[in-house]
Amino acid sequence: MLTVHQTPAIVLTTRASSDIEADLLVFPVFEDDTLADEADLNAASGGEVAAARARGEITGKVSGLFITAVRGWKASRVALVGVGPRKDVTPDRLRRAATIGALAARQRRLTSIAIVHRPGTSVDAPGAAQVLAEGAVLANFDGAAYRTTDPPRVWLETVQLRVGGESAAVARASERGRVLGECTNLSRALSNEPGNTLTPKVFAERAVGIATDAGLAVEILDETRIADLKMGLLLGVARGSQEPPRLVVLRHEPPQAATGGERRAATRQPVLGLIGKGVTFDTGGISIKPADDMDRMKDDMSGGAAVLCAMAAISRLKAPVRCVAVIPMTENMPGGRAFKPGDVLTSAEGKTVEVLNTDAEGRLILGDAIWYARQLGATHLVDIATLTGSCIVALGKTATGLFGTPDEWVAQVRRAGDRAGERSWPMPVFDDYKELFKSEIADFANTGGRAGGAITAALFLKEFSGDLPWVHMDIAGTAWADQAAPHQPKGATGVGVRTLAELALDGQLFGS
Ligand code: BES
Ligand code: MN
Ligand code: ZN
Repeated sequence: MLTVHQTPAIVLTTRASSDIEADLLVFPVFEDDTLADEADLNAASGGEVAAARARGEITGKVSGLFITAVRGWKASRVALVGVGPRKDVTPDRLRRAATIGALAARQRRLTSIAIVHRPGTSVDAPGAAQVLAEGAVLANFDGAAYRTTDPPRVWLETVQLRVGGESAAVARASERGRVLGECTNLSRALSNEPGNTLTPKVFAERAVGIATDAGLAVEILDETRIADLKMGLLLGVARGSQEPPRLVVLRHEPPQAATGGERRAATRQPVLGLIGKGVTFDTGGISIKPADDMDRMKDDMSGGAAVLCAMAAISRLKAPVRCVAVIPMTENMPGGRAFKPGDVLTSAEGKTVEVLNTDAEGRLILGDAIWYARQLGATHLVDIATLTGSCIVALGKTATGLFGTPDEWVAQVRRAGDRAGERSWPMPVFDDYKELFKSEIADFANTGGRAGGAITAALFLKEFSGDLPWVHMDIAGTAWADQAAPHQPKGATGVGVRTLAELALDGQLFGS
């Protein structure tokens, strides 16, 4: 397997544009731009910039890209990347502009860039430092891990940032962006990994490596421990596979949590519980999926990868909140020993489930995992899963479905997602829809029919939340890009890593 990502050095600079040494200098450009703050740029380009604007090649429209050589500057080329009208510039537009500029450099086999934060937008210097670092790191990713015929890949080695000020806050923000970008890339790499190379066992081993590097406490529960805990839902899904299941537990104990004058009793401290679906391949089981696009189901562990890589970021950035993560890992396979429609499974908590469709496996393994996160002391729950095709129908491919209770907790997760540049949208959890997955012989069934399928899936998970504040993120649509976009390659997106990390970096969990 080839290296699929590499993290460049991020360096802050305050130099004038003419004085920055880099292969490519990247400027965001607005629709209503006079470039007055970069008065020498046009002359350095030999008039190319003014000419290109006059003929409408540089418009400032979002994602537009223009590259030209410059003379008399220490840099050899400049890239102008459109970010829309100046007043509408958001951190996310800057993040994307940074990715586009950085990708343009890599495509030209250039290894050093500098990105300039232009004045006059609502984004402050630390805010810009974070998203520009993030965007540049996200560009240093190439998912073709098994292509042996490509020329050697070129990685960005250095990214300089000029954000209009150098301070401790700017330095911290750029470090935060670097780590969040790197952890997103780690998660993408895991999700792109095929089902034959990333089995539950291998996924658990990779989790240990990533967690150890990040300074997290990590524990793997094997099939025997899982059986001791009587996790009948996870074991039921795993039955059809030759590959044994795993349950990975990660813990982050912030250094600040147990110190300070206003120390609260350890039991009263909030604990963020993160739970991620880790189905390393979902065939559907006996309720088998159609062949078309089944290959995509190698990414059905994207929620688990997001939790793992968010925890790595949380630990590396020393988030001030205690966190515990639980990632159930299994394949969902048909086979002689596989669980079957009509089977009744008993969860670790004791609740019984009638399996009407073995393809609704995510909610089963999450049921046991959410319960376990509560056993481990979680006070606030967030689960993340490629859970339902129904959520894609409801929200499309670029918004994560948010379900949960109470509304304030859902809103806090949504704000974290907005800061992360990961759009999410609240969905209802109507209690009376529980009727839809009633069972004749067990506590409830694992499916509720086509209508409201994303909502009934969420309600199923809620049964295991013990009435704690709980949010469910359905990333079935957002985990995988079917098409490449200017800022994002085809394939795994790493969605959720930055939302969950931003949430823990908040410091204050709802109500605590
Ligand atoms: N992993 C799938 C959900 C999914 C579908 C993710 C498409 C990404 C793209 C999940 O396990 C599943 O199969 N869900 C079923 C549930 C149904 C059987 C109630 C679905 O959505 O069809
Ligand atoms: Mn399924
Ligand atoms: Zn699935």
